Amino acid sequence: MDTLLVFLSCLVTALSSISSQAEARAFFVFGDSLVDNGNNDYLATTARADSYPYGIDYPTRRATGRFSNGLNIPDLISEKIGSEPTLPYLSPQLTGQNLLVGANFASAGIGILNDTGVQFLNIIRISQQLAYFQQYQQRVSALIGPEQTRQLINQALVLITLGGNDFVNNYYLVPYSARSRQFSLPNYVVYLISEYRKILVRLYELGARRVLVTGTGPIGCVPAELALHSRNGECAVEIQRAANLFNPQLDQLIIQLNSEIGSDVFVTANAFEMHLDFITDPQAYGFITSKVACCGQGPYNGIGLCTPASNLCPNRDLFAFWDPFHPSEKANRLIVDTFMTGSTKYMNPMNLSTIIALDSRT
Ligand SMILES: *[C@@H]1O[C@H](CO)[C@@H](O)[C@H](O)[C@H]1NC(C)=O
Ligand SMILES: *[C@@H]1O[C@H](CO)[C@@H](O)[C@H](O)[C@H]1NC(C)=O
Repeated sequence: MDTLLVFLSCLVTALSSISSQAEARAFFVFGDSLVDNGNNDYLATTARADSYPYGIDYPTRRATGRFSNGLNIPDLISEKIGSEPTLPYLSPQLTGQNLLVGANFASAGIGILNDTGVQFLNIIRISQQLAYFQQYQQRVSALIGPEQTRQLINQALVLITLGGNDFVNNYYLVPYSARSRQFSLPNYVVYLISEYRKILVRLYELGARRVLVTGTGPIGCVPAELALHSRNGECAVEIQRAANLFNPQLDQLIIQLNSEIGSDVFVTANAFEMHLDFITDPQAYGFITSKVACCGQGPYNGIGLCTPASNLCPNRDLFAFWDPFHPSEKANRLIVDTFMTGSTKYMNPMNLSTIIALDSRT
């Protein structure tokens, strides 16, 4: 009898310690369509992924607002940290215990600058995403108290993905755009970085202590830009030049911020190098092409949007690009695997598996 009781109490202790270990850290997401989990579905905007064939490979086979055939980068990061996918901040389901998983504030079409994506009308600009983060903290505080809330935020993982739209949906959107008349490209990049600094500092002030910051991908190589600006399928030179100016300055900014703070709060994920790997050698990664989008029309399936009337490839895993701008789920998986285990060529100053190991010790 006694031994049974001892056995049972040991079992209970063991089980409860397993469940507290399994309780994943919260995850917060900020940025544009690469990481939007569906906020734009709730807005009057043209930047949306709420109909077939978006979501064709998602577990529910339904469009969810993710700009992917299936899962996107935040979903796959949630998987890696052992957490449920975050809900969009505007989702009515984001209440009660669901709040403790984190939230996704991202909105397709936005950029670092307020005037980026104006053509998409009503979208959640980055300053508003940060205001919602503050509002979120008040809501959680009412649920679990201010001290616990502070802990939840400080221990959370944060992802922010910005910048691509400031080029393709602003500076290069039309010839002689307002920003391109105001700034030379190098000066525009300096301006973007100075505005990005304010955003990251604000995120820190709001309690974020582990922030993955992605640079822009090879935006000149996406099917949309190949269709518009390339004659022979080579990456659009001018737009690649923009990414090549932006990314190293973002790296410098992160080094500076971390040294001012005295801790590795910010971690850069070099999306440019990650994409470039499978753009230069798609076959090595199991793709038949990295130039043609699975869903779209015109050259490279790069013109216009992915709609029910578009060409659609039968096997999405064979395409690096799902639509004219966004990677397929398969490509997203490769990217997030590199977040996890990539060397300093990709992740600085450390990768996600190192972050997880470090943070589980504190
Ligand atoms: C962007 O808009 C927000 C909210 O209106 C404002 O606080 C911020 O200063 C603006 N940023 C720039 C760079 O104009
Ligand atoms: C990244 O992760 C791997 C383990 O998966 C580790 O061996 C490597 O040292 C890490 N690199 C960095 C830069 O943190």
